[in-house]
Amino acid sequence: MSERETSVLLTGGAGFIGAATADALLADGHRVVILDDLSSGHTDTIPNEASFKRGGYGETGKVEELLRDGRIDVIVHCGAKSIVAEGDEHPNRYFANNVEGSLNLLNAACNVGVKRIVFASSAAVYGAPTLSTISEATPLVPVNTYGATKVTFELALRSFADAYKMQALSLRYFNVAGSTERVRERHTPETHLLPRLIRAVESGEPFSIYGNNYATPDGSALRDYVHVADVAAANLAAVNYLLRDDAPVGHTAVNIGSGVGTSVKQAVSAVERATKRTVNVEVQPRRAGDPPRLIADITRAVALLNWRPRQSETTRIIRSLID
Ligand code: UFG
Repeated sequence: MSERETSVLLTGGAGFIGAATADALLADGHRVVILDDLSSGHTDTIPNEASFKRGGYGETGKVEELLRDGRIDVIVHCGAKSIVAEGDEHPNRYFANNVEGSLNLLNAACNVGVKRIVFASSAAVYGAPTLSTISEATPLVPVNTYGATKVTFELALRSFADAYKMQALSLRYFNVAGSTERVRERHTPETHLLPRLIRAVESGEPFSIYGNNYATPDGSALRDYVHVADVAAANLAAVNYLLRDDAPVGHTAVNIGSGVGTSVKQAVSAVERATKRTVNVEVQPRRAGDPPRLIADITRAVALLNWRPRQSETTRIIRSLID
């Protein structure tokens, strides 16, 4: 890649992971063009140094214009619909956005000759494996619509990359959590464990543990929580990898997690220790479609991207949510 400043088109850049990624890219000297339809993102998280275009990534003509005018070198595709229950209720919306819209983006990239793409995928592609840790070779058997849309687009990306000589990475994020100085989770509804726990401890309202009879050491479900700043750093590492002259053609999937499992009960105790308050816990039945354990094997991320989690200890993630 030549010495000129590189330009990145970042879809979903007004969202949680997208905004943290914009910060990481800018801090590393990249020019950032954010494309977001603001259906779930927030304009106040868009950094001043980024250019912003409001719109859908599925609008091929507009995207082609942005790619040409912005002299884009790499696309980071973070935009998506990502509420698991909503996906199962409205698969039409999820396939339209996450698959059809993403295919339009990919076609725009091909038409303009942009060859490098980083795709924000998810551990949801694996479904509910019973393995102690999950490598990228684990079969893709999604158990919900959201995961199915991520698998479908990954497969499309692989075919496009092979046929049209593109360089593509799908980063499969595990449970993204935590806050940075500028960016925090603001989902509506908020379904994620850690923000719900913090909300419960602050309000004194009961907190529901969904299931305490899993085949795990303490009976509650195990997840791999990874700090959003580490995820942003992984996206940056992926961009810089694709910009290398020796970056290979084709598609590679890479797990992004902490590599460590934390149970729901351990998260409750960690929040109690951090806040010195008691969580008013009630045990509820299992939530539909919840796998018992999802823990990443991050060997490939370390080897390929020279990335490792730096801020993803659960206590550190929790502190970032209450500081
Ligand atoms: N949980 C509770 N109580 C709550 C909220 C969550 O006990 O109030 C439990 C869940 O049942 C689950 C664990 O906490 O066992 C984590 O739940 P989250 O909703 O925080 O995260 P998920 O693992 O369900 O979801 C994540 C990503 C999704 C992705 C999914 C599957 O957020 O995008 O993993 O890989 F699809």
